[in-house]
Amino acid sequence: MKLCVIEGDGIGREVVPAAVRVLRQVIPDLEFVSAEAGWDRFQLTGEALPEETVARAKDAGAVLFGACSSPSYQVEGYASPIVSLRKRMETFANLRPTRFLPVPTAREGVNLVVVRENTEDLYVGDEQTADAGDTGTATKRITRRATERIAHTAFRLARNEKRRLVTIVHKGNVLPQTDGLFRRVAYEVASAYRDIETDELLVDTAAYWMVKEPARFDVVLTPNLYGDILSDMAAAWGGGLGLAPALNIGAEVAIAEPIHGSAPDIAGQGIANPTAVILSAAMLVRHHWNLPEIADRIDAAVNAALSKGDYTADILGANGMSTDQFADVICEQLG
Ligand code: NAI
Ligand code: MG
Repeated sequence: MKLCVIEGDGIGREVVPAAVRVLRQVIPDLEFVSAEAGWDRFQLTGEALPEETVARAKDAGAVLFGACSSPSYQVEGYASPIVSLRKRMETFANLRPTRFLPVPTAREGVNLVVVRENTEDLYVGDEQTADAGDTGTATKRITRRATERIAHTAFRLARNEKRRLVTIVHKGNVLPQTDGLFRRVAYEVASAYRDIETDELLVDTAAYWMVKEPARFDVVLTPNLYGDILSDMAAAWGGGLGLAPALNIGAEVAIAEPIHGSAPDIAGQGIANPTAVILSAAMLVRHHWNLPEIADRIDAAVNAALSKGDYTADILGANGMSTDQFADVICEQLG
């Protein structure tokens, strides 16, 4: 078993080593290969995602990714490395669970997973500019093929995890040719899973319920951009971005990555919460390597540490533990 480790930028370089320590402890014969990507790399070499990195990622088939910084304006030659890597590895689904964790910032009763389509929609950034830069256009593309694939992923996950309800989230009332297609195909797929209940919400209403009554949700099946936004909202109920994991999956490949970014506001201080990336690694262990007992051990160690009140600064403020101290606690728990 091989894992390609891409720390990326900012706190990626601080939290990923904590997850690597955990993995070394629970899977002693795991082989690690490291690779570079990100904004810092781009500044140095003009390449954000080197071919060598893609080759190592594909060869390993499993990637642990930290975070990359991306400017909010156009930079010639730069594209978000994680968006490119998801495309290159054809990871068509992004699983983003939020469950209650024993921290004061979390909401009890929440246990949901956002199943986000990962290859199309506005999020791929197919943009044009006209009028000397005064008009910008982005193409929103939804296909039957990608929708069928993500819908089957959502319903299968519901079945495997003994979940009850899949909620299709879209904006088909305003976008009948794109989101309307997503909704229609999702319902077609639903008809093959009669044991799972299906309902739907318009994305704005879904946002309202995500804030007001997050326990209403079980599995959320949605296109790329809505999934990006709703999963960050959901993360607040799990205790915050520092605790929110994700796994990108494709055919026989997977990329584990926290949903948070490079957090430039706290980078370099050694105080970032490594929980999100550790739980992402656990998802990789569970879904990609199919080692549920080991994944359960990691999840249990995180739960135990948090239950004792061992918190990093994002939860506790100035008196919080450092990234390394928290990783020490997790490794101790793992025994
Ligand atoms: P962000 O997720 O980096 O940070 C948002 C807030 O959450 C900040 O206050 C940060 O300190 C806090 N936070 C995030 N993760 C944390 C952790 N593990 N422990 C403690 N606090 C944590 O989002 P932001 O600030 O919007 O973006 C910063 C950069 O990250 C941008 O360049 C953006 O493009 C990039 N980004 C990259 C992603 C990726 O590589 N997958 C995903 C999201 C953003
Ligand atoms: Mg995001």
